[in-house]
Amino acid sequence: MTTTIRTAITDADYEAWRAVRIAVLPYERCPTVAEMRDLDHPGRLMVLAEVDGEVAGSGLADRSSDGERGSLAARVQPDFRRRGVGTDLLRVLAEHAVAQGYDIAGASVDDDESRLFAERFGFVETNRQVEQVRQIGDEPRPAAPTEYKIVSVAERPELWTAAYHQVALPTFPDMDHQFAVKVSAAEWDKEWINDPAAMFVAFAGDEVIGVAGLMLDSDRPERAEVAYTAVRREWRGKSVAATLKRTSMAWAADHGITEIYTWTQRGNNSMRRLNEHLGFTYGIVSISLRAPLPLPGEPSKT
Ligand SMILES: CC(C)(COP(=O)(O)OP(=O)(O)OC[C@H]1O[C@@H](n2cnc3c(N)ncnc32)[C@H](O)[C@@H]1OP(=O)(O)O)[C@@H](O)C(=O)NCCC(=O)NCCS
Repeated sequence: MTTTIRTAITDADYEAWRAVRIAVLPYERCPTVAEMRDLDHPGRLMVLAEVDGEVAGSGLADRSSDGERGSLAARVQPDFRRRGVGTDLLRVLAEHAVAQGYDIAGASVDDDESRLFAERFGFVETNRQVEQVRQIGDEPRPAAPTEYKIVSVAERPELWTAAYHQVALPTFPDMDHQFAVKVSAAEWDKEWINDPAAMFVAFAGDEVIGVAGLMLDSDRPERAEVAYTAVRREWRGKSVAATLKRTSMAWAADHGITEIYTWTQRGNNSMRRLNEHLGFTYGIVSISLRAPLPLPGEPSKT
């Protein structure tokens, strides 16, 4: 058995990379090839693992959202596990992160087996995210609020940029992330929205006060991920988030979506409670991990 790890370069490589990611994480939207091309930047590494010429796994090394850690993801097709492919992938990704100057690696696992794998390399838990899932049935559009208005970003595209400054930046610290979330205006435009018709903003006067919506999935059009939901602090407790979310659930019902899902940090009780109130139930738990770099047994940089 010969395992080769090589960089994903062509569109066909990117499709093969996606196929592994979709097989390993079927419950999570995978960026399209075009979106992945958009995400490419120096320092981001996408690799394929091939066993005797057949794609067995794929991996990603990139900077973490706060830019402080190397974020690593090794994924192996179920049929190819326990043959050292995950180890080979993780070593290549970790060496790349070390070469980029990182001394901490971040990763996440959704099952006990993968956690055991990661612990061998020194990874320890730092946080947990819970998946919350909501079946979409008959979802009435909420009554129009009186103190503020709700529109889609398709109707008022300029409000998405305003939402970055007026809602996103002031509310990112409230998410109970272990590390500060740093998102540039360009990333907000590119990665935090994919269909402006499915994204909603609430505004009062000339100020955006809240955002919520859906990230559509062209691989699974019947399932959508809940996008970033946030309300400015002075507007909390007035049902703005619930009204925005109900608006996006009504949109989902009108567009053939039967299930929506979201990931919420363990400590973010207010968002979890809001989702429970809206009828979400609990799904998978994802554990965030981190480990010092270089990983054990890996040649050090010097
Ligand atoms: C984690 C994952 C990449 C492991 O891939 P793999 O190719 O099976 O891993 P390896 O064969 O290199 O395993 C190396 C060692 O890890 C441990 N390990 C791996 N899977 C395990 C399992 N199911 N139960 C217990 N230990 C396990 C074992 O010690 C194993 O050595 P051994 O087979 O000689 O006992 C794979 O299960 C996967 O794709 N999981 C989903 C994605 C994910 O969570 N990735 C981790 C983020 S970096």
